[in-house]
Amino acid sequence: MEEMIKALPQHTNSWSKGKMIMYKYQDFWSIKHLIEGAILAQQSFKAEPSDVFLCSAPKTGTTWLKSLSFAILTREKFDESTTPLLTKFAHECVPLLENSHVVEHENIRKNLSLPLISTHLPYASLPESVISSNCKIVYIYRNIKDVIVSQYHFGREALKLSMEDAPFEEAFNDFCKGVSGYGPYWDHVLGYWKASLERPEKILLLKYEDLKSEPKSNVKRLADFIGSPFSVDEEKAGVVDNIIKFCGFENMSKLEVNKTGKINGSLFENRFYYRKGKVGDWMNYLTNEMKEKIDKLTDEKFDGTSLLL
Ligand code: A3P
Repeated sequence: MEEMIKALPQHTNSWSKGKMIMYKYQDFWSIKHLIEGAILAQQSFKAEPSDVFLCSAPKTGTTWLKSLSFAILTREKFDESTTPLLTKFAHECVPLLENSHVVEHENIRKNLSLPLISTHLPYASLPESVISSNCKIVYIYRNIKDVIVSQYHFGREALKLSMEDAPFEEAFNDFCKGVSGYGPYWDHVLGYWKASLERPEKILLLKYEDLKSEPKSNVKRLADFIGSPFSVDEEKAGVVDNIIKFCGFENMSKLEVNKTGKINGSLFENRFYYRKGKVGDWMNYLTNEMKEKIDKLTDEKFDGTSLLL
């Protein structure tokens, strides 16, 4: 494995002061341990038809989607005052497939309290059995400019670099070249988008901005899709609203587990996953020139699709 990874194309992100090395495996970029996990998952993970995959590129709303899906599927057992989400990080409630090592792949199913598994892998790199088992897939995506800013801060915080030490412009340029977490980001979105056209009954696309502006209709779509629709009585009793409120940024970012917790052995503190949770924060970071550059690239990549980022 070590030799195989070493032979892959490499890129040292200049903004990271040489601290972040990315490798290109298949058609995406990521860091070493996640590529190792991806290879192991492709070799050994056996999906079951009842599995529901929560898929996303990093920083597009993965944590939010996990909390919502978990709260939806466990609502008969728990409410807002008893849910495990009060004390357990969303990424522990729903594991990341490629973060697990081989033994854990064998155990991942035993450890699942629900049939929810997440992954950042592009559609084309999913373990073969995810497709052949016809598993349901929920894919969340987000405005590219907000993803750039969010990935920048996440990486910077993990490496303990100040903004002065990690020039945003360099991170922006890497992202434009496609060297971003599981990037190129456009290809990531396009892969799932195309698949959703071919298999709409199995792949649901959600957009971060829509979830923000119209949470109720989108949370109901999510619940319908993952096989746990809200009844009329539940809706009347405020169950949907309560889940939206509980899983909202305001509430989640204030929970102790999300303010001070950290998964054992992880580089990333839980709080890094709750930064601002806003639409349009990119305006505070991108110059007009950067905006034009990324919009032009996006127009070119998404030409002929109905996708807007
Ligand atoms: P920002 O850095 O723009 O604040 P991911 O979960 O895919 O890693 O994405 C993290 C991004 O989602 C961060 O964006 C984070 O603040 C935001 N986020 C996390 N929880 C959220 C929530 N409940 N509602 C809205 N945004 C949330």
